[in-house]
Amino acid sequence: MSLKKFNTEELPQHIAVIMDGNGRWAQKQGKNRLLGHEAGAKAVRKTVEAAAKLGIKHLTLYAFSTENWNRPKTEVSTLMSLLVRSLRRELRRMTENNIRLSAIGSLDKLPKKVHEELVEVIEKTQSNTGTNLTLALSYGAREEIKQAIVDISRKVKNSIINVENIDETIINEHLYTQHLPDVDLLIRTSGEVRISNFLLWQIAYAELYFTDVMWPEFDEHELHQAINSYLKRERRFGKTSEQLT
Ligand code: FPP
Repeated sequence: MSLKKFNTEELPQHIAVIMDGNGRWAQKQGKNRLLGHEAGAKAVRKTVEAAAKLGIKHLTLYAFSTENWNRPKTEVSTLMSLLVRSLRRELRRMTENNIRLSAIGSLDKLPKKVHEELVEVIEKTQSNTGTNLTLALSYGAREEIKQAIVDISRKVKNSIINVENIDETIINEHLYTQHLPDVDLLIRTSGEVRISNFLLWQIAYAELYFTDVMWPEFDEHELHQAINSYLKRERRFGKTSEQLT
């Protein structure tokens, strides 16, 4: 599917994706679920490059949640080594496509190798000016919000922040996503209809798009479908339709 006609400024500035269904996609074909993650990494590449081609400014991918640490040990270690391999493999293509990498989450919990590779690719792509790709790794929204509350409370205690001055801007400045705008479009694949502790604060006014497509099958065409759906919606931010026109 191609995109319907649009003005560039109508495109979502920030797209976030809950990439779900790797395991089920593999199992449906009688394959080991770990192969689903390998196929999922290919879908990451296709989606990132399609977003870059469209000029999407920010793309945030839920690659590993705080809860994912509870998966079987072999699956966690496969995902971690897949991350290292993907980061190594994709650096050149990211540079060719002018993509800038960043990461959010409890990054200190990642294995040393993943952390090192991540820091290296982040540094090497820092001056790229195209799509800002953010990987959410060991990420949990409640943990992020808790961390912000602790940081702000400490500053209040040390008289750096006055309680009366705490507002949404100050809260935003203490989240992992302080450098990102709110999410405009949140996509979740695999037919599940839930948020799973992803960017709870940042999706307050996001348009939600759920598709039955499993993550390994997601590609440029599916991204265009999601954006077409977004372009048809009227974003009212609490106002009436009449007020918008
Ligand atoms: C959900 O599928 C996906 C994940 C837990 C991890 C996402 C990882 C990738 C897409 C691969 C590598 C990522 C990068 C950034 C290169 P699931 O296993 O929960 O699927 P299921 O619900 O069918 O079991």
